[in-house]
Amino acid sequence: MALDRFGRRIHYLRISLTDHCNLRCVYCMPEDTTFRPPAEMLQDDEILTLVQLFTTLGFDKIRLTGGEPTVRAHVVDLVREIAHTPGVNKLSMTTNGVLLRKLARPLAEAGLQRVNVSLDTLDPEKFHRLTRWGKLDDVWAGIEAAEAAGLSPVKINAVVVRGYNENDVAGLARLTLDHPWQVRFIEMMPFAGATDLQTGQLVTALETQADIEAELGQLEPANGGELDGEARLFRIHGALGDVGFISSVTAPFCELCTRARLTPDGRLRLCLLREGEVDLLTPLRNGATLTELRQLILDGIWLKPWGHGLADGVIALNRVMSEIGG
Ligand code: 5AD
Ligand code: SF4
Repeated sequence: MALDRFGRRIHYLRISLTDHCNLRCVYCMPEDTTFRPPAEMLQDDEILTLVQLFTTLGFDKIRLTGGEPTVRAHVVDLVREIAHTPGVNKLSMTTNGVLLRKLARPLAEAGLQRVNVSLDTLDPEKFHRLTRWGKLDDVWAGIEAAEAAGLSPVKINAVVVRGYNENDVAGLARLTLDHPWQVRFIEMMPFAGATDLQTGQLVTALETQADIEAELGQLEPANGGELDGEARLFRIHGALGDVGFISSVTAPFCELCTRARLTPDGRLRLCLLREGEVDLLTPLRNGATLTELRQLILDGIWLKPWGHGLADGVIALNRVMSEIGG
């Protein structure tokens, strides 16, 4: 069992399968991003070795992220192997949805259980402006394919950015009227690469909630007022789905954190918003035994930071978001 020194049991691993992406969202990556050399990236067999190792430490929940996980070569085969690893009970993916039209069914058949699809606006022009390269139609077809393939309940993640999509939040929330989806609004977090935008254009969850309520009426608390993962859940009266707010910046949920992250270059990242990492790739390639690797993971988890330091102005600048995994 992987415990940290604050008594949190860490059993949820988010694996970033690649730092590459087929979009260039303004709050995530500069348009002319340079990527790390492929030789420094985890190979499929290395990912599987690490997944097996983590399951022996009690990790039972895995989310695949990126960059964009669906652009990784052989992603369906990799999903199948991970899904069939004993000890993996929950397997989901965070994706921009662009490739789901084709991949939703094969991924579901391979054992993927759910997807979170990132979608920040329902306006095609604004979508293009936010993602620089994206077409809204692709994502919409992807969401429909995901639902048809049984990757449900579908969750939609919207990052709210002032000057881009802050007027589109009610439209997104309205999707829950007719669809059993969870539409979650995420406060933009600062990383390397776009910190001016990320700190200057932040829209708080409370502001987003007020904007939605101004258009759609007061939201009813759902889930007994408890957090669902990281989201505070609400429901529009009579709706099929839920609206959630993820206030990572203004009201962090660090005390409930159960997560660790694996970067595409094989580092164990202990907190999304802190720079601390443990290199697993180098020892793995240098022939460390499974026992030695297990000890490295346990020692790292023990030192997991209590929480992020945004309130004190501490921003992790060693990676952009797409190199960590959301
Ligand atoms: N702050 C908050 N969320 C972000 N994402 C990417 N960059 C940021 C940021 N700076 C989101 C994406 C996607 C998930 C992978 O992380 O929109 O939903
Ligand atoms: Fe790609 Fe997601 Fe980053 Fe957008 S936020 S550029 S979809 S990794």
